[in-house]
Amino acid sequence: MKGIILAGGKGTRLYPMTKVVSKQLLPIYDKPLIYYPLSMLLLAGIKEILIISTPEDAQNYEQLLGSGEKIGVKFSYTVQDTPRGLADAFILGADFIGDDSVCLILGDNVFYGQDMTKTLRAAMKKVDEEGGACIFGYPVKDARAFGVVEFNKDRKVVSIEEKPQKPKSNYAVPGLYFYDNRVVEIAKNVKPSARGEIEITSVNNAYLETNNLNVQLLGRGVAWLDTGTPEGMLKAAEYVEAVQSRQGFYVSCIEEIAWRRGFITTDELKTIGTELKMTDYGQYLLIIAQEEHKDA
Ligand code: G1P
Repeated sequence: MKGIILAGGKGTRLYPMTKVVSKQLLPIYDKPLIYYPLSMLLLAGIKEILIISTPEDAQNYEQLLGSGEKIGVKFSYTVQDTPRGLADAFILGADFIGDDSVCLILGDNVFYGQDMTKTLRAAMKKVDEEGGACIFGYPVKDARAFGVVEFNKDRKVVSIEEKPQKPKSNYAVPGLYFYDNRVVEIAKNVKPSARGEIEITSVNNAYLETNNLNVQLLGRGVAWLDTGTPEGMLKAAEYVEAVQSRQGFYVSCIEEIAWRRGFITTDELKTIGTELKMTDYGQYLLIIAQEEHKDA
């Protein structure tokens, strides 16, 4: 399975913060926002990752993440000239996806929780073995800003609605999607919505219509944090700080995940740690590199 991180958009809702810096490069506490969704792909074990950004920002992403070699993965980059909608990721990424299945994660979606690795791997396995699509439902107080799952009386999913005025449930669809290879053709046939975008929700409904959509409900064990407003970003940063300072474990440290997953050796981890040794981040890498058992 391949991975795509969509980091496009102009971030207008966060102006002036995002006037010259791409939203997904802004910090959430001690690391760029994109590290958090990137970590999810790495936890799933995905090593070929396409990063889609704007023409203005592409260079910054390449400078930040490079070829991926340092953490044992392969990053490719492409640009989206105008924000045409999330489903455009599969059209822009068609060559990259090739014959494979694909996981799309939005560059501003932050997830955290012990169950995440299991959840990601199960979704990946299901799509790779059975085909179809796997998406998630996450309870939120106000679902109006999201794709929303509608259930019938038997709790069967009957539709996904994009940003409904009156949500039919409080289950929002987070920006994490697993699809079989058919997604490329489906995306190419999606008609633009009223706001002129080819919506990921239309892709999901296409899978639903053919009975190929699996919606997994995420529970309290997973935090899906909002980064859509300055307040949301501050709260997400406080959450990360609270977990890190209490436990001593970093949240979404990409070098740590790469090492624990066996993408890089302990010596390679030490080299990165040494390069960053003047920071707490680098010191952390050097400390974990001393662990005898890396499967914490
Ligand atoms: C997008 C999707 C929406 C999804 C959300 C998750 O909305 O269109 O279905 O629930 O991401 O973050 P956007 O953030 O583009 O408004």
